[in-house]
Amino acid sequence: MIHSAIVPVAGHGTRLLPATKSQPKEMLAVARKPIVQYVVEELVANGISQVLFVTGRNKSSIENHFDSDPELTSVLKAGNKSDLLAEIDFDELEAHFFYTRQRFQLGLGDAVACGENFAGEQPVVVALGDSILGINAQSKAISRMVQLFEEKRASCVIAVEEVPHDQVRHYGVVDVTENSDGSLRITRLVEKPKPEEAPSNLAIAGRYVFSPLIFDMIRRVRPDKRSEIQLTDAIQMLCEEGKRVLALKLRPDEKRYDIGNFPSYFETFVEFALADPLYGAEFRHTLERMLAKVE
Ligand code: UTP
Repeated sequence: MIHSAIVPVAGHGTRLLPATKSQPKEMLAVARKPIVQYVVEELVANGISQVLFVTGRNKSSIENHFDSDPELTSVLKAGNKSDLLAEIDFDELEAHFFYTRQRFQLGLGDAVACGENFAGEQPVVVALGDSILGINAQSKAISRMVQLFEEKRASCVIAVEEVPHDQVRHYGVVDVTENSDGSLRITRLVEKPKPEEAPSNLAIAGRYVFSPLIFDMIRRVRPDKRSEIQLTDAIQMLCEEGKRVLALKLRPDEKRYDIGNFPSYFETFVEFALADPLYGAEFRHTLERMLAKVE
């Protein structure tokens, strides 16, 4: 069992400006909840009980969100709003939250390295704070990844998602070979390839399990043209050293919602709002009426 997860949330979120000028993209709402709340709920549902947020400047609202708020609690209690109270009672979640700062935004690899002391000598899950797996984060992929990691004594397991071939240029893509037991071994990772150069249509989907070896690899990675330390470069080194790096394919109902750009954020919001048990049906009618007017 793996109980710890690192959630990097320190990026600038420039693709979502001006929405992200003074608030983290991970705190933008998708339907009723901020994105990062879905991420935490997914982690807890997959057996994670210790979560380290790697934060940066302008990210204190994440800490505030998971903190208790006695004043708000008493207002909700006095108003008999126990249903709302339950939705913000993070003490009930059986998870411990930790925070550290990435002092300079030097890339995802650098952000993950900020969790080295937290992970210690134990394997750790990494979950990007701007990605949700499955509608309402109902994915159990992390549990399957941990199982695969332990069964195969892997150094790394990465969640991958099949994407249309002409879309591969937006993703990190993996080259895989199938082992005799049906598991997928990653031999190479390519960042944002042209479709004709892509080794597959399997895109890296924002969830990883790592052995502590990853921290040694990150230390050896040279910064790229933008002075960033890329996590994919560190994983590529694991492959080159002959370590077992495996892919776990997400199921069709575990679609990865990446909130890092506006088209995908809009789509995610609408899909989650349509699935809302209370307001979804009415919202569908509104949307249909709006679309009929546009056409
Ligand atoms: P992105 O690759 O989307 O980068 O990060 P970004 O800086 O947040 O966004 P843009 O490209 O400027 O629009 C993927 C995840 O990694 C975190 C982000 O917070 C996000 O959850 N990250 C990225 C860090 O924690 N530190 C970094 O230096 C870079």
